[in-house]
Amino acid sequence: MYDFYADTKTKPTSEMRRVVLDCVVGDEQKDEDPTTTDLCTRVAKLLGKEAAVFLPSGTMCNEIAIKVHTNPGDEVICEQSCHIINFETGGPAAISGVMIKALHGQNGIFTPEQVVQAIRPNSRYMPKCTLMCVEQTANMGGGAIWPLEQLQAVASAAKDAGLATHMDGARLMNAVAKKGISAATYAENYDTVWIDFTKGLGAPVGAVLAGSEDFIAQAWRLKQQLGGAMRQSGIVASMCLYALDHHVDRLSDDHDLAQNLGDQISKLNLVKEVLPVETNIIIFDLKDTAPTAAEIVALLRSEGVLAGAFGDRRIRIVTHLDVDVAAGEMLMAGLNKYLNSDAQEVA
Ligand SMILES: Cc1ncc(COP(=O)(O)O)c(C=O)c1O
Repeated sequence: MYDFYADTKTKPTSEMRRVVLDCVVGDEQKDEDPTTTDLCTRVAKLLGKEAAVFLPSGTMCNEIAIKVHTNPGDEVICEQSCHIINFETGGPAAISGVMIKALHGQNGIFTPEQVVQAIRPNSRYMPKCTLMCVEQTANMGGGAIWPLEQLQAVASAAKDAGLATHMDGARLMNAVAKKGISAATYAENYDTVWIDFTKGLGAPVGAVLAGSEDFIAQAWRLKQQLGGAMRQSGIVASMCLYALDHHVDRLSDDHDLAQNLGDQISKLNLVKEVLPVETNIIIFDLKDTAPTAAEIVALLRSEGVLAGAFGDRRIRIVTHLDVDVAAGEMLMAGLNKYLNSDAQEVA
């Protein structure tokens, strides 16, 4: 099976597994794990922040950041397709007691004008808007990259109104690899930012959340409270360090493959539209005359290829470390078979 469902599906390479054998470990809860400390120091520097904390997942990074930045009853500005709204089981409501103001952006990206309009006036009747979140790259926007200027402009709009700013950088390194802009530059106007090691970077566990010393001290209390504090976490942190050293530059291979597949997919008869492909995610919509997305995904599975159905007519394909050009050819053979023949059209 070639798994194009997500870049989370990568398995650690043999070289990555080998670094575990020699890593130095200790009790992470007591700051005694040198490998984890090393990882946090490196990521804080990479992201241009004072400090960082190692967490089990990106979801926990988002949820802890929201909790630190807000009080119950506050409102948080996000884009409607983002992970925080759609895939964190209502965490902002359940954990932080906050409401979300969902903006309708273009492929996950919104404008400073939308931010200004969304921020409520100071009123005893209204929720207080205290945080704005962005996703770089925007997953359900087809891996779209926020242009640096726009990223800075929405942050300025939020900050002018006294809001905190948070960046979900699950795939920030994809933007870095594509545009050659540093992660610290992208994160400059953001109080907090994190990167995920389990996406294109190919590690099995872990994400690192960065911010000011004070923010990280508060984040650590929540990590402890939620049961995210670890013991000999160097075992997994060592693989994240390996990913930083060896798997960042190669992200451009994933982008090249995605670009190539996106071009081919856009030519299929029964494909209505492919979102612009900028990084490693291809999202495309099927014409009404095509089988449904779920049916196509099931047919592809029978050909040995996995993809994701997101809605009735929308399919997502993600490239990563474990799918190469040959896998792409298999995917295209399947898609050609089911989406390129008038015979497949349903009346
Ligand atoms: C944009 C985005 N944010 C957050 C997450 C959550 O990351 P994790 O799976 O590490 O919890 C994901 C995972 O797919 C994601 O795509």
